[in-house]
Amino acid sequence: MIQFLHVTHTYEGTWKGIDDITFRIEPGEFVFLTGTSGAGKTTLLKHIYMEELPDTGRGGRVLIGLPGEDVFDSNRIRRSRIQRLRRDIGVVFQDFRLLTDRDVWDNVAFALRVRGHSGKLLKRRIEDVLERTRLTSRRHAHPHELSGGEQQRVSIARAIAGEPYIVLADEPTGNLDRENAEGVLDIFRQLHASGTTIVMATHDLQLLERLPHRQLQLENGRLKTRWF
Ligand SMILES: Nc1ncnc2c1ncn2[C@@H]1O[C@H](COP(=O)(O)OP(=O)(O)O)[C@@H](O)[C@H]1O
Ligand SMILES: [Mg+2]
Repeated sequence: MIQFLHVTHTYEGTWKGIDDITFRIEPGEFVFLTGTSGAGKTTLLKHIYMEELPDTGRGGRVLIGLPGEDVFDSNRIRRSRIQRLRRDIGVVFQDFRLLTDRDVWDNVAFALRVRGHSGKLLKRRIEDVLERTRLTSRRHAHPHELSGGEQQRVSIARAIAGEPYIVLADEPTGNLDRENAEGVLDIFRQLHASGTTIVMATHDLQLLERLPHRQLQLENGRLKTRWF
């Protein structure tokens, strides 16, 4: 469960960010986060994994519920709990953030080791996720040897390898041609089918028409369509 209650975030020294955002996403939902560049999509996603926190003193809060865990509350969370939260959230960043000096395999392995995986299970998980993202034959390539579509898939493989309950994807088809975008969407469709909660930021309207999921529409930091 992801819940925002009157969340406002203003970047220091500006009036920009997100403004009085309220919504709720149930476990297993696939939700699109839409809006033009600068609307606040990335800022909103950062509040889900608590890289940013709501402005203090304005009453806003973010609540994240995960199976078997007390609710994570942005108003009273400590750093160690944020680390715990992030173990169960996979993030596909807009700018990939791959480790450039490591190959595909090691990029995925690194993310799993941080989550405490090792040995045979680690190896099996990497093999499985590279298969699902069609990267098996590229496992020894370094990021600079990969196409844009392949780099995007590595960033997805890394985000989903730990089998997180929630996956956040920041414009994962933004730099891809139709065919590569299709491949990426297929991965998210399968994830959704297996029960993962997905929040995908996008401004690709064609994509929205083809996948009829709920939309949270941002405009100048505000939610245009409200859902509770
Ligand atoms: N670190 C920052 N410092 C100051 N302003 C920022 C920062 N990050 C984003 N913004 C501003 O906040 C608004 C929302 O940005 P962002 O969440 O990145 O939108 P989107 O992802 O929809 O393009 C924009 O006006 C942007 O310029
Ligand atoms: Mg963005």
